[in-house]
This record gives sequence, structure tokens and C-alpha cells, in this order.
Amino acid sequence: MKLETYIQTLFTSQDVDYERINQIMIETGMPTISVSPETGKLLTLLVKISGAKNLLEIGALGGYSGICLLRGNEDAKLVSLELEQLYANVAKRNVEEAGYREKVSYKVGPALDSLNELKEKAETYDFFFIDADKGNYTHYLDLCIQLASPGAIIAADNTLWDGKVLEEHPTDQDTLALQKYNDQVAHHPRLESILIPIGDGLTIARVK
Ligand SMILES: C[S@@+](CC[C@H](N)C(=O)[O-])C[C@H]1O[C@@H](n2cnc3c(N)ncnc32)[C@H](O)[C@@H]1O
Repeated sequence: MKLETYIQTLFTSQDVDYERINQIMIETGMPTISVSPETGKLLTLLVKISGAKNLLEIGALGGYSGICLLRGNEDAKLVSLELEQLYANVAKRNVEEAGYREKVSYKVGPALDSLNELKEKAETYDFFFIDADKGNYTHYLDLCIQLASPGAIIAADNTLWDGKVLEEHPTDQDTLALQKYNDQVAHHPRLESILIPIGDGLTIARVK
């Protein structure tokens, strides 16, 4: 048995929302690239442990990670940034179906634009989840730090990139971008951080 299967069987078996959303995404012709159920469970626990209430997600897809974040705190509100209008519509329906009506709002368009708009409005958040285009991860990090309240958590998915971050001389742009992201998070003077090898890798940082 693989380690991943062992963890999933014990801690995350039968996540009905995961199964339901995957089926809807297949029928809608969307990619089935939600976070793994065990990464989703960790996101829930991180929100719960930190007590975060103002959540921001970059990359909604079908809404699964949004549901996992909202599961962590019944008083939380989620702002979710998504490039594609169709995906934001699907995510909204799925998140509402899971019982989180009125808890989520979507901003559609390039996330860099949305983050800059939120910055102009002087919004602050205490939990960020980055899970969109890898080439912009370091830009998202900079903006999340600017939008962060003291002690905020910044989590980013796919930071092991199927192990490709270990390559010494990668040529693939996404691998290079993720290596750069992990390096910046590890050495940033305002962050305390760690990369957890769960799912495809989740890098977690706390803003000082
Ligand atoms: C890996 S999927 C997100 C999965 C989702 N977080 C989940 O686990 O349920 C990446 C998402 O980022 C979105 N995306 C890609 N580039 C983007 C951008 N520049 N701005 C906003 N969203 C973007 C894609 O459309 C896609 O829905």
C-alpha cells in the first residue's frame, strides 16, 4: 500500500463533496485537479487551529478547496479569486450545495488584478490559499503579505510539483517558478515556514 493510500484510508475516506465535485467537473469538461482530500483536510485543520475568519483563495476551480477552508470555521467568510467565469459559477453552486451559502464571494479575472484591487481597498485577511498559475506564485506571495493581518497563514499547493522541485537544472518554467517560490518563502524575513510533503506538497508560512 502506498503511504498516500494509507493516510487517505485512515483520515479522509468518503469525502462526499470531493466525489460529488469531481463528477460535476467531469460532466462539465473541467480539469479534475482539485487539492487531494488529505491536503483539503489539512487546510480545514489549519483554519480551525489558527481561528482564521477572513479567508482568501487564489484558484477556485470547482470549489472543493473552498469547502475545505470553510469547514474549518463556521464564522469564516471566503473571497475566492478565479480566472474563468464558468469555473467560478460551478464553484459557487458547489460551495452553496455544501451548506456555505452567503459565506463565499467570487472575483473573476486575473488574480493579480483582483489582489491589487483588494489592496487598494485596504482589505486584510488572516488565511490565504494559493493554488493557481505557478508562474505567478511569487507575485501572489508578495501581495498576500501586503494583505495579511499579523499572524496570518499563507498556504500554497503543488510545491513539490510531483518531485520535480528536486531537479538541479530544470528547464520547465513551472518547476523553476515553484523552486523560486519555496526559496522565497524559506528565506523571507517576515515569514516562518515549512513545506509539508502531503498531496503534491503544501508550503505553509506564518506572517510575523
Ligand atoms: C489547481 S486549480 C485550483 C483547484 C482548487 N483550489 C481546488 O483545490 O478545488 C487552479 C485554478 O486556478 C485558476 N487560475 C489560473 N490562472 C489564474 C489567474 N491568473 N488568476 C486567477 N485564477 C487562475 C484556474 O482557472 C483553475 O481554476
